[in-house]
Amino acid sequence: MSFSEKTIQIVKATAPVLAQHGETITRHFYQQMFSQNPELLNTFNATNQKTGRQQAALAGTVYAYAANIDNLGVLTATVQRIANKHASFNILPEQYPIVGKHLLEAVAHVLGDAATDDILNAWKEAYDFLAALFIEVEEGIYRESEQAGGGWRGTRAFKVVNKVQESELITSFYFEPVDGQPVADYLPGQYIGIYLHPEHSEYRCIRQYSLSDAPNGKSYRISVKREGEGETQGMISHYLHDSVEVGAIVKLSPPAGDFYLNTNAKAPVVLMSGGVGQTPMLSMLNSLVNSSSQQPIIYVHSAVSSEVHAFADHVNNMADKHDNIQQVLFYDRPSESCHGHDYEGKTNLVLIRNTIDIPEAQYYFCGPQGYMEMVNTTLQSWGVTEDRIHYEVFGPHKAI
Ligand SMILES: Cc1cc2nc3c(=O)[nH]c(=O)nc-3n(C[C@H](O)[C@H](O)[C@H](O)COP(=O)(O)OP(=O)(O)OC[C@H]3O[C@@H](n4cnc5c(N)ncnc54)[C@H](O)[C@@H]3O)c2cc1C
Ligand code: HEM
Repeated sequence: MSFSEKTIQIVKATAPVLAQHGETITRHFYQQMFSQNPELLNTFNATNQKTGRQQAALAGTVYAYAANIDNLGVLTATVQRIANKHASFNILPEQYPIVGKHLLEAVAHVLGDAATDDILNAWKEAYDFLAALFIEVEEGIYRESEQAGGGWRGTRAFKVVNKVQESELITSFYFEPVDGQPVADYLPGQYIGIYLHPEHSEYRCIRQYSLSDAPNGKSYRISVKREGEGETQGMISHYLHDSVEVGAIVKLSPPAGDFYLNTNAKAPVVLMSGGVGQTPMLSMLNSLVNSSSQQPIIYVHSAVSSEVHAFADHVNNMADKHDNIQQVLFYDRPSESCHGHDYEGKTNLVLIRNTIDIPEAQYYFCGPQGYMEMVNTTLQSWGVTEDRIHYEVFGPHKAI
């Protein structure tokens, strides 16, 4: 399908207005949608609504779409990222008209008298096109997950078979399927969706967690940080730590995500993480070791101190055993008893430029927003091209 010239003109002309009011539109949209379709509160993350992070992510995408409506090819990677995220929430085709109705009503509301029939019709056409695209891409992801050996569609019941404290803040959970059958492999770096209904919550909650070990066909491992405290206490991370014990049954959506290790590339790999951003890097590291990879692997990790540094022994062992693995460790505020770190203070990649600025290397990183912005800016200033830079955001996506 292609758009009429008139639709393209109208959508492009109204895009700047949308950009200006983007978050007002999406805020209005969510208010209306949740009051008329409260069942969707079982799908969306209420905290991300409160903090405005989800509104910002949606508004940014709608604007990018409008601005590029005559050149949608540039949005291919964005569509893949969102469709993978949607798949972990098991978003279904029948939900698109609901979202479309409320989104168009919100556009009409914010534009007021300026919202002519021509404008609303053009936006409806544009939304329907985008919705059809997402539905098709998501169906492809669902089908692939279902057809993979050990795979499934939707959610599947898993039992917690082990729970291991990795540091003062991070705990790992091991899951095996209740049906006793194998589980699908995944690309190192991908995540699962976990579906939980805490007793104290009116609604079911869905969260994503990166798989923190190499695939093994039998079980999955995630490693979860307790997020926030007091007023900003994260709901599900605390629930997992405090109330989900060995024997508990949870539902998981199949592994998904567009951030993963290119296992075919033989170039050096630089894995960089801050705090719990380490989880996808561990999956990559362990997968590379399992495949007897000989390519240089540089594992750069930043933690506040050894008390909150998870998987220290594991990565030390890997680096001791394999000549191609080198570890660099930054401790932000080491306590008296901390040892083994290479640098003290905030991560400064310039200090290790000789080690990590390698022609052809592929860079993967994950951590807090500020950390990722610093890594990205530094790599770009060294001339690292975008195709060698890969990162994951642990929350509603934000370009860095
Ligand atoms: C692809 C992906 C992979 C991920 N992988 C991992 C992983 O491997 N390990 C991991 O630990 N996490 C991971 N996450 C993050 C995880 O999905 C959750 O977002 C995280 O556990 C927090 O969930 P929660 O329910 O505890 O917090 P929520 O209740 O959802 O709150 C979200 C955030 O807002 C903060 N907050 C809460 N209330 C307020 C308020 N009033 N004002 C301001 N801030 C507030 C919380 O502290 C928290 O940081 C990943 C996320 C994504 C998208
Ligand atoms: C064309 C229509 C849509 C667009 C443009 C869109 C866009 C987005 C974007 C940009 C994100 C953030 C992605 C990220 O963090 O990487 C997102 C997440 C999400 N979307 Fe959509 N979406 C659409 C339709 C839908 C529909 C129909 C549903 C189902 C009700 C839905 C449910 C969700 C949920 C639950 C999330 C995660 C929210 C969170 O993390 O708080 N979306 N979407």
